[in-house]
Amino acid sequence: MKKHTIVVANWKMNPETPEEAKKIFNGIRLATKRLKNVKVVVCPPFPFLYPLSKLKYPKNLFLGAQNISNEIKGSFTGEVSANMIKNLEAKFVIIGHSERRYPSAGEGESNEVIRKKLQIAFDVGLTPILCVGEKERDNEGAYLAFIKNQIKECLIGLSKKYLLDIIVAYEPIWAIGKSYKNAMSPTDIHEIVLYIRKVLDELFGRNIATGAKVLYGGSVESESALPIMKYGNVDGLLIGHASLKPEQFVEILKESDIKR
Ligand code: PGA
Repeated sequence: MKKHTIVVANWKMNPETPEEAKKIFNGIRLATKRLKNVKVVVCPPFPFLYPLSKLKYPKNLFLGAQNISNEIKGSFTGEVSANMIKNLEAKFVIIGHSERRYPSAGEGESNEVIRKKLQIAFDVGLTPILCVGEKERDNEGAYLAFIKNQIKECLIGLSKKYLLDIIVAYEPIWAIGKSYKNAMSPTDIHEIVLYIRKVLDELFGRNIATGAKVLYGGSVESESALPIMKYGNVDGLLIGHASLKPEQFVEILKESDIKR
């Protein structure tokens, strides 16, 4: 079976106007049409989902959200439900991004809350992208136990049929939002992807471990995309700041369009 690479654009709290959002999106759309092996998921802030949902889509381009509520419906001021996203033709949702787990103000999301969001996303038919990753590395390997615990607590109890489609984005917090020089090396990414599959195997069995898609995110720019795709053992990339610069992102898309 043909294996698609997934490249996710996480726009975070950018840009500021729907016009700018459409402009960036159109650049991505044109480039996506020409790709043979890549599925592209654009995750704008909530207010831009509607205007972007009205545009034309090549069949390998999808809309996604950056978050959903952990409640299905009801009186929850300021929240956005999974069904609202689904009804805007979005197919994906990023869940458990480190900037939501550890926000600069207020309390962050726990693994338990993230698990609830994953359950809801699957229930309504959205494909969640679960983010995991440590704040820092240590020589004793505590970060490995930390990642294992995140995976366990976020996924435990979800039905096997859901887990077969799980997408895990590994995003070490120390590598996020910097230059390509600070992205993790392809060899180190390769190792951690093997580790994530080993953890999935231990917890949920071989089928889920081999079927899972593992992405890397953290300071991927056009300079680092190709080596990571070639040697990092990943099924795709999650791109933050570079996804807002159409020229740079289009380069990344081209470099990701390799047969695997
Ligand atoms: P970055 O962000 O590419 O700007 O490092 C990645 C992310 O946080 O999803």
